[in-house]
Amino acid sequence: MEQQLMALREEATLEFTKVTDLDVLNDLRVKYLGKKGSLTGILRGMGALNADERPRIGQIVNDIRAELEKIITARSEELKQAAMAKRLASEKIDITLPGHRPKLGHKHPLTLTLDRIKSIFMRMGFTVAEGPEVESDYFNFEALNLPKDHPARDMQDSFYITPDILLRTHTSPMQARYMQSKQPNEPVRIIAPGKVYRCDYDATHSPVFQQVEGLVIDKGIRFSDLKGTLDLFAKEMFGSSVKLRFRPSFFPFTEPSAEVDISCVMCGGQGCRTCKDTGWLEILGSGMTHPGVLEKSGYDPNEVSGFAFGIGVERTAMLVYGIDDLRLFYDNDSRFLAQF
Ligand code: DAH
Repeated sequence: MEQQLMALREEATLEFTKVTDLDVLNDLRVKYLGKKGSLTGILRGMGALNADERPRIGQIVNDIRAELEKIITARSEELKQAAMAKRLASEKIDITLPGHRPKLGHKHPLTLTLDRIKSIFMRMGFTVAEGPEVESDYFNFEALNLPKDHPARDMQDSFYITPDILLRTHTSPMQARYMQSKQPNEPVRIIAPGKVYRCDYDATHSPVFQQVEGLVIDKGIRFSDLKGTLDLFAKEMFGSSVKLRFRPSFFPFTEPSAEVDISCVMCGGQGCRTCKDTGWLEILGSGMTHPGVLEKSGYDPNEVSGFAFGIGVERTAMLVYGIDDLRLFYDNDSRFLAQF
């Protein structure tokens, strides 16, 4: 048996040294040292040995196994290095080739528009206030002079959660929320941007859209302050040649109320398809804060006055970028989005 072992040791050593391929080396390891390999095969014959021979032969087997393992490890290291050296010698990397450019995203056109609106008003000293999209009937309607049976509620058919809680139909509830969070008659100069919800869906209406509410309250605020503020906003947003037109209108929370048009950004006021040949485009609603709204939120209409406005973000973005279907903003087609 000892002779068998020595022969195996010699044969294996020779084969291991001759091999030039890592896979073949691995096959050889299995052939000699594996579970069904030659060494294990010889070990099976141990049962036939004398009890006093067994430890000696066992020791020899262990030594041979260790020795062969060592040879394999060293050989495999050699082969790996040789393979690497060969690759390094043959492989040429052209470091002047262009790399893989990562695809960078960018802001959505509605976000860009909202950012611009915010920045224009912030430069005029407004701060940004935000409120909940799930709103109470009280703030969405009651506090704004729209009691339960008021017909103006019909124009804002909405999504109710309970009879007294709904998805806000406009950002105007922030007027009352903000005033009620302040001391009575404390001056206010805020814009309140955010999502609003209505049961509407066509090329110019979406069930979810964004508004920016504005509210200014202080001693001696007049209609001319409203005009000056909105004039500056429109010129910054649409260009300095834009003209404004205030049209009498009705909102329950302002008195007087005005709808504000700008001269058509497409034709400059000559009349075209976008402005339906009128030369004007409606961009927002506004007015002087109704005394009842001030009173309901703890402000004294004999001491302070104010104005408010509500701008549609989608509508503004459509005019700034010349887009005729609002649904493009929500489709997330990258061919559309990549243009901004
Ligand atoms: N909340 C109005 C709407 O969504 C817009 C509006 C009109 C807001 C006049 C105002 C305002 O603050 O003064 O239709």
